[in-house]
Amino acid sequence: MKIFSLLGILFLVVSCKTATEVPKAESRGVIAENAMVVSARKEASQIGLEIIKKGGNAFDAMMATEMALAVCYPFAGNLGGGGFLVYRLNSGETGTLDFREKAPMAATKEMFLDETGKAVPERSQKGGLAVGVPGTVAGVFAAHEKFGKLPVSEILEPVIALAEQGFEVTENQARTLNYHREVMLEVNADSILFTKNFKAGDTIKNPALARTLSRLAKNGKNEFYLGETADILSDFLLKNKGLINKNDLAAYKAHWRDPIIFNYKDIRIISMGPPSSGGIVMAQIFKMIETYPISGYGHNSLKYIQVITEAEKRAYADRSKFLGDPDFVEIPTFILTSVEYLHRRMENFSFDAATPSAKISPGVVPGFEADETTHYSIVDTEGNAVAVTTTLNGAYGSKLYVEELGFFLNNEMDDFSAKPGAPNMFGLIGGEANAVAPEKRMLSSMTPTIVERDGQFLMSLGSPGGSTIITSVLQTILNVVEHDMTMQEAVNAARFHHQWLPDVIVFEPGAFDPVLLEELRQKGYEVNERNSRILGKVDAVLKLPNGILEGGADRRGDNTAVGF
Ligand code: DON
Repeated sequence: MKIFSLLGILFLVVSCKTATEVPKAESRGVIAENAMVVSARKEASQIGLEIIKKGGNAFDAMMATEMALAVCYPFAGNLGGGGFLVYRLNSGETGTLDFREKAPMAATKEMFLDETGKAVPERSQKGGLAVGVPGTVAGVFAAHEKFGKLPVSEILEPVIALAEQGFEVTENQARTLNYHREVMLEVNADSILFTKNFKAGDTIKNPALARTLSRLAKNGKNEFYLGETADILSDFLLKNKGLINKNDLAAYKAHWRDPIIFNYKDIRIISMGPPSSGGIVMAQIFKMIETYPISGYGHNSLKYIQVITEAEKRAYADRSKFLGDPDFVEIPTFILTSVEYLHRRMENFSFDAATPSAKISPGVVPGFEADETTHYSIVDTEGNAVAVTTTLNGAYGSKLYVEELGFFLNNEMDDFSAKPGAPNMFGLIGGEANAVAPEKRMLSSMTPTIVERDGQFLMSLGSPGGSTIITSVLQTILNVVEHDMTMQEAVNAARFHHQWLPDVIVFEPGAFDPVLLEELRQKGYEVNERNSRILGKVDAVLKLPNGILEGGADRRGDNTAVGF
């Protein structure tokens, strides 16, 4: 492995920036010449990189990393969930793959309401009813089929070995497993592999998952949707009050979709479109703030926080009304992302005082009638880049664990709007556009994103964090392009978030000056500095001007960048 020495990094940094702008060498993340994988776990990053070293490309590494996360990061890594891929080939071609879960055929609009019509969050968050038809296996196989180079069996070999030989429990992991044990015991009929009392340093082996992965290596994607795995999974779900049956699994398909592409000053941003709200909401915020002197305000300054917060409120208000599965609802993307519309949305903003969310409604679009996730970024030796965000939704998803197959099932049904105005687990509200319907995909905030400058790859990034994903990705991009941070500094920097409703700015605790927070209160903002699980864990790769790659692995988790 050819990681640069400190001296080398210093030279590199000095050679690409003027002396006064040079960030300290130690503030750079992992540096690599050829390829980089940044994910939520060291083991998964290493397995992804190993596949690239064997001659695989970013899409082969995607399959390896995604499946390795399912083994060693069951908190969010998955076979029982879904996600989105944004890619940029070295030719400049870009695209996206939607492998989001969808509602089973037997789903109904009222399925999460009680007899009085009240939304019951328990039902969409825990156990069989919360589970959407998983898309991850379809996703990694579709990406591999279109762009992969190595045989699936070779890619899955080190992943199967990891499941058989086991992985080491980290401090963070022991804490989250122990924290969720009670609910896992409540949801599952019996104790499961993950309900033991774990401490850091323990080893977890998952032979059942190794067997499932071996069958996938042998039989391909159909194993999961039509084969023995499908039989076991559908029987299990029917026994656990789930609605998913064999027809639902057989009908599942990942979809290639057009990316959302927009410019912000001199960069071009390529992100995920519906059924993710990420690309559109982020485009709206960027366009609303573009005319303000963002870098001049200074990072996390009063004016910076105000202008971004106000843009966020207006964009998330639109999200609640207009966005949903594009196969079911018509989305006025062109208008929502047009400069004229967005400048009009900011007309009533003033630095003097907050615009209360109650005074902000979703915008008026002519002709439109209203009726715990993980991200990894990979760049390969050929210059192809992928940004992939994948999820079970909540931590360990629905907590329902298929012991025979070795994985947790998602609780993605909670991302639907159970009823207009009823908040989901991230406090997001929605309406008709995101109501439950058979075979519909639930609206997401996942925002895997690739950034270009001057027609060249610049950055690949994304994050978990539910509703805060979009604003975490936005701030990380701004940190690099407006505040001149290194990739690692940009990922580390303190973040804040507003999502229209509730009308509150959430700040990372202890990271913002109390005087600044008081100034915001004086202007009418409600400020919340609670210890939030929802301010993202960004994994990113930046290409420096001399072509070297810098990884940014979020300090908030066990995230690790590896490269060579
Ligand atoms: O798709 C979404 O927007 C959510 N299911 C993401 C969940 C998530 O990020 C959880 N991680 N903290």
